[in-house]
Amino acid sequence: MTLPTLRLLLALTLGFSLTAHAHGEAEHSPMHDKMEALNRDLRTLKRSLTPSAATAAASATPKEQLALADKLLAQVKELAAMKPSAKGGGPADVERLATYEKRMQPLVEKFAELRAAIAAEETNKAQEIVKALNKMKEEGHEAMGVEED
Ligand code: HEM
Repeated sequence: MTLPTLRLLLALTLGFSLTAHAHGEAEHSPMHDKMEALNRDLRTLKRSLTPSAATAAASATPKEQLALADKLLAQVKELAAMKPSAKGGGPADVERLATYEKRMQPLVEKFAELRAAIAAEETNKAQEIVKALNKMKEEGHEAMGVEED
């Protein structure tokens, strides 16, 4: 890639993020951003467990999958230690926090199971765990009234 091309790409990338802010996209909480990163990485891992003909060339090695599973586990542990944003400061917030903690603990354990399945190269089991994780996500969001983007 030539230098001018690189500059152009950089300018475009920066330009896009500036435009997003100029259009008043909601400022996200740190929890929101971390949840989104978790979502992205989980999707990447899920795809790497079912490589199609189209993605075969880019499919991850078991070592790369394990590195991603480790990253996911660290991310979810960080998330579990956070507190959901308060909504008014009343007893409802105390309940929200309790709901969050109650659901994040098993989520951390499930991500640890995912890591173990990947370490053992048990692909089918890992796929089942990913399904269970997505269910926990949906149910957790419903319990917390999270509006999906
Ligand atoms: C694999 C599991 C999970 C993933 C990948 C995930 C992903 C996400 C994503 C992408 C968002 C941003 C909103 C959206 O675009 O949908 C979000 C927000 C949120 N999630 Fe999760 N989530 C998971 C599990 C959970 C669980 C179990 C809970 C707890 C009950 C939870 C609580 C929340 C809360 C409170 C927010 C709002 C954060 C804020 O805006 O400050 N999530 N999550």
